[in-house]
Amino acid sequence: MKSYHWIMLLLTVALVAVSVRLASLSTSDDAKAGSDNGGTDALECIMTRTSIRSYTDRQVDDSTVNKILRAGMAAPTAANAQPWYLEVVTEQNLKDSIASAFEYAKMVQGCSFAVVVCGDMDHLFKSDKADGGFWVQDCSALSENMLLAAHALGVGGVWCGIYPMKEREDRLRGILGLPDNLIPLNVMAFGYPSAEGEPKQKWDPAKVHYNAF
Ligand SMILES: Cc1cc2nc3c(=O)[nH]c(=O)nc-3n(C[C@H](O)[C@H](O)[C@H](O)COP(=O)(O)O)c2cc1C
Repeated sequence: MKSYHWIMLLLTVALVAVSVRLASLSTSDDAKAGSDNGGTDALECIMTRTSIRSYTDRQVDDSTVNKILRAGMAAPTAANAQPWYLEVVTEQNLKDSIASAFEYAKMVQGCSFAVVVCGDMDHLFKSDKADGGFWVQDCSALSENMLLAAHALGVGGVWCGIYPMKEREDRLRGILGLPDNLIPLNVMAFGYPSAEGEPKQKWDPAKVHYNAF
């Protein structure tokens, strides 16, 4: 090879190296937040998550709470409407009130923080306003993202259902003074697990069908 061939080859290698470096630097803050934290591999995280209902006294710090909330809002939504609003509950008197109001949300009393995931009726996608659109699915995607992010960060969580039970919705609205435009989908309790959770075996190939019936 002539010397200018060598120079061209070296220049190409240098260019590729710079491009790869620049691509990694342009990774979003959110993606970095996940990888900087020793988060477990995505599939392992999905397969090992389980509902956690009992927590230690250790409080989840603000930065970890923020990562969980941000992961929630990274979820997909119909037409990217993001029709959600997050009510974060940290005060013990409110946690106590929620725990005593809902038989199936007693764990909220001992959690580090709870998040009430609300659909925001003022932020529905335009053409969805007549029938409510996809806010339940959008907020559910957010909720699952939070459970998975929490698990990746060593925090346990559980989803306690509120919507579509009107009576539960009204009781929670009363405790938190939620404005009319917000419909609470659930109460999500989070905290460091007091014991390791055992993921349930759910895979059932009999519930899968390929192509037309
Ligand atoms: C819509 C919905 C409502 C739920 N409501 C409650 C609840 O009120 N209280 C509770 O302890 N768990 C609740 N869960 C958690 C389920 O009981 C739990 O996800 C299920 O038993 C499967 O267990 P796993 O999460 O450990 O895989 C709810 C989950 C969903 C998706």
